[in-house]
Amino acid sequence: MGLLDVAGLTSGYGGPPVLHDIDLTVGESEWVTLLGANAAGKTTLLKTLIGVLPAASGAVRLNGREIQALPPEERLRLGLAIVPEGRRVFTRMTVQENLQMGAHLFGGGRAEDFDRVYSLFPRMAERRRQKAGTLSGGEQQMLALGRALMSRPRLILLDEPSMGLAPKLVAEVFALLRGILTEGVSILLVEQNAKMALKSSARAYVLRLGRMVLSGSSADLAENPEVRQAYLGG
Ligand SMILES: Nc1ncnc2c1ncn2[C@@H]1O[C@H](COP(=O)(O)OP(=O)(O)O)[C@@H](O)[C@H]1O
Ligand SMILES: [Mg+2]
Repeated sequence: MGLLDVAGLTSGYGGPPVLHDIDLTVGESEWVTLLGANAAGKTTLLKTLIGVLPAASGAVRLNGREIQALPPEERLRLGLAIVPEGRRVFTRMTVQENLQMGAHLFGGGRAEDFDRVYSLFPRMAERRRQKAGTLSGGEQQMLALGRALMSRPRLILLDEPSMGLAPKLVAEVFALLRGILTEGVSILLVEQNAKMALKSSARAYVLRLGRMVLSGSSADLAENPEVRQAYLGG
């Protein structure tokens, strides 16, 4: 049993299903990568996991508990946090207020959690009273990650965090994720930057047209001809 266990999950937007019969596991303190082309259904899967999109069928268990019927707040309370596609920081709020939003279920944030996030991201500490909209793309990505950490998650889902970032910042995001992993937080990373993602993660899955078509150790998948062709430039 993993920390997150997904079995036979089918989901979509009311029309024909987008995701078909998805099985997926993320272990304790494990980093798992999810690869897939545009429109494969990666974001749809993460949205279904956090509960903003209802599943048509299947089971989602977090730490052995069936969470499929629970609303997003309850899943967050149980330790499932997301860094959404496009970061979605609250641009008119300050850095500090954004972090408070990440902890709104816990009274707006515990001092030790602010301390932890600010020590992970010293630049956020310097800019804590600045509006999030004035931050660079990389800083907004760090803020989105910090906001997710404020709820003390057991598992963080990240939807293409390196999108639009310069290579140096991408490396910084990955380094931060490695640090978070060593603190015992599990990671499910959706990423177009397949090379770095496969290097950093233990296992990976490949989603194609709403179906899981490959899974295995990241090292094995990095050698897989299909993966090399589609995600690693041959
Ligand atoms: N809000 C929506 N309503 C209807 N269909 C959607 C919606 N969002 C995404 N889709 C469809 O679901 C499929 C998967 O999209 P998505 O999960 O965003 O893919 P990915 O994140 O892998 O690029 C696509 O065919 C897309 O058009
Ligand atoms: Mg997406």
